[in-house]
Amino acid sequence: MLQERIEQIMKEGRESLATVSTAADFEAWETRYLGRKSELNEILKGLKDLSPEEKRLIGPLGNRVKQELAAAFAVAKETIFERNIDWEAERIDVTAPGHPIVPCGHLHPVTLIEHRIQDIFLSMGFSIADGPEAESEWYNFDALNFPKDHPARDMQDTFFIRQEKKSQHRFVPRTHTSGVQVRYMEAHKPPFRVIVPGRVFRNEATDASHEHTFHQFECFMVAEEGMVTVATFKHVAETFFSAFFNEKVSVRLRPSFFPFTEPSFEFDISCVLCGAQGCPTCKQTGWLEIGGAGMINQHVFESAGYRRGQYQGFAWGFGVTRLALMKYRISDIRLLMSGDLRFIRQFQQ
Ligand code: DAH
Repeated sequence: MLQERIEQIMKEGRESLATVSTAADFEAWETRYLGRKSELNEILKGLKDLSPEEKRLIGPLGNRVKQELAAAFAVAKETIFERNIDWEAERIDVTAPGHPIVPCGHLHPVTLIEHRIQDIFLSMGFSIADGPEAESEWYNFDALNFPKDHPARDMQDTFFIRQEKKSQHRFVPRTHTSGVQVRYMEAHKPPFRVIVPGRVFRNEATDASHEHTFHQFECFMVAEEGMVTVATFKHVAETFFSAFFNEKVSVRLRPSFFPFTEPSFEFDISCVLCGAQGCPTCKQTGWLEIGGAGMINQHVFESAGYRRGQYQGFAWGFGVTRLALMKYRISDIRLLMSGDLRFIRQFQQ
């Protein structure tokens, strides 16, 4: 009886398997013939209640049928699965170029310019120094010989920070990198030549050529009295700008005033856009205004603790941001800090 029933199950199972085609049908078939509660399994579970002779007959038969049905099921499933594969869609083109796994970021155009400037100065034997962006009023102004309550402090459109208590140390978002001169002098003894790249902040009405946050460069060189002169400055500046623009650039000085230099200059470079012939950028003059410079005021040396008259040196500062605008011919300074990735991505290298 049982033996026939098992053979019957085998036959039914095989026949119904041939008609199965959907995933749901497969699942139902598997539960029905191979599942824990399948008839065949129930029979096998009941083996223990049978007589020894029956056990010897039914046990191996039941197990064989179970294995055969399982094998048939695996083959059928595999076949159906293969039939359903869209081979075209599965085709792998081993010659196709790969996709970058992680999209890579890149340097900001101002950083690219900073790196280039640093490379040139390093090749000329300069060191690179750094200072805090939140600077004490002492380093930003007093140490640089800006008189207290003198309009010279307004020259720089400072963002003043509201302070609860009038303590001795007031801080400002630094308006220039010049304060690092004194910080560096306090920690080093001349001779030295140093550059200080840095971000600075001004309370300015912004327009295409003015931004409240921009990048500057300070460059200074100090040695014993008489070793570093205005001529040294002019030579260093011409060497630097010629290397930067890859062409011969001349520097022109005009008298000016800065509290921390004496004498002081504004300096221009020959226009690199028109070869000093005159163009809209240089307003037909052949010269581009670049920055300020001068011989370091002895008051500044005194702020750093040096003896008056012992050392002599030049200092100059200029806007890295302006150089970036010139180099990449960007017409609006505000694009640089706008955070607009469509603009920034153009500088991927
Ligand atoms: N710190 C000045 C500014 O931001 C620029 C400057 C002028 C720097 C003359 C100097 C200098 O080192 O000698 O406007």
